[in-house]
Amino acid sequence: MRGIGPSPWKRLARRCRAVGLGACWLLAGLAGAAPAPMLVRFSHVVAPDTPKGLMVERFQALVAQRSGGRIRVAVYPDSQLYGDQDEIEALQLGAVEMLAPSLSKFSAMGVGGFEVFDLPFLFQDLGQVRCVTRGAIGRQLLEDLSRHRMVGLGFLDNGFKQMSAAKPLREPGDFKGLRLRIQASRVVAAQMRALGAHPVVLPFGETQRALASGVVDGTENPLSNFLSQGLAPVQAAVTLTDHGYLGYAVVANPRFWAHLAAPDRLLLQQALAEALEHGNRQSADLNAQALAALRQMPQVRVHALTPPQRDALRQAMQPVYADFQRRNGAPLLRRIQDECAP
Ligand code: SIN
Repeated sequence: MRGIGPSPWKRLARRCRAVGLGACWLLAGLAGAAPAPMLVRFSHVVAPDTPKGLMVERFQALVAQRSGGRIRVAVYPDSQLYGDQDEIEALQLGAVEMLAPSLSKFSAMGVGGFEVFDLPFLFQDLGQVRCVTRGAIGRQLLEDLSRHRMVGLGFLDNGFKQMSAAKPLREPGDFKGLRLRIQASRVVAAQMRALGAHPVVLPFGETQRALASGVVDGTENPLSNFLSQGLAPVQAAVTLTDHGYLGYAVVANPRFWAHLAAPDRLLLQQALAEALEHGNRQSADLNAQALAALRQMPQVRVHALTPPQRDALRQAMQPVYADFQRRNGAPLLRRIQDECAP
């Protein structure tokens, strides 16, 4: 197995690209140039039974099936290979070929538009998110990644985030003085400060230990991540705030992507499109299943918000928008509100 680099098959495929993909395959077959095996390393930080984990498994299976086993996607879940503090660098250096980091990670590395996904109470439902990710705004954001040595290939939902701690977090006053673990995101840090809490940036893979040892008091995440990371035994109260969105972008190393033979690139693109559809179909169900499972656990209480409590949280988080607009201007937000109104 090998990662990247031209092979006789690839050279032939490149030369005949002009006559179309079918002809490429045919010419390669006639010339007797057997396509070489290929390894695609796909690293991620969450458990296999999450929207991201299931999407990557489906991608792996489709690629194996359609390439007759010639292209192997090796999946490294649960921060086994790289954690969320070093996975993007690993991709840029070519130590892995593909990733699906959370959208917050792209804003943290300077692709400002991605900050919009972290804004609290911006999206009413997944339909509104998909209007953004599947339209011109989403395409532009994926293209912006090319300036950061990544090829943006598509978006995936996890879902809406809920708050957790040792006590219910229903009103702004409940957050006062708490140390809350967040991803490296200026928007989420501003959100926690607006509530009177202290944001603490920690890698996802270290969150469970930090909560168990009392380094932090609470956190936010969709419930499929909360459950599959084993946070239930260390967080007695989950409050259903639905205050923000968590999603991912699948990215590839640009050198790997550029050196693929056209038929292989097409195969990967089509398999990924289907895998993303599959993951997006699963996301709402997985979060609903996680909620049902949490309701059965004696050590966890699930708390709902009344409409006035939700409004009070939304009001308290408003300063985050001014902060966002100081950095990014108003046009992107205005476009989302115009083109993708709920
Ligand atoms: C992820 O879902 O990839 C990580 C989320 C987090 O770091 O909170």
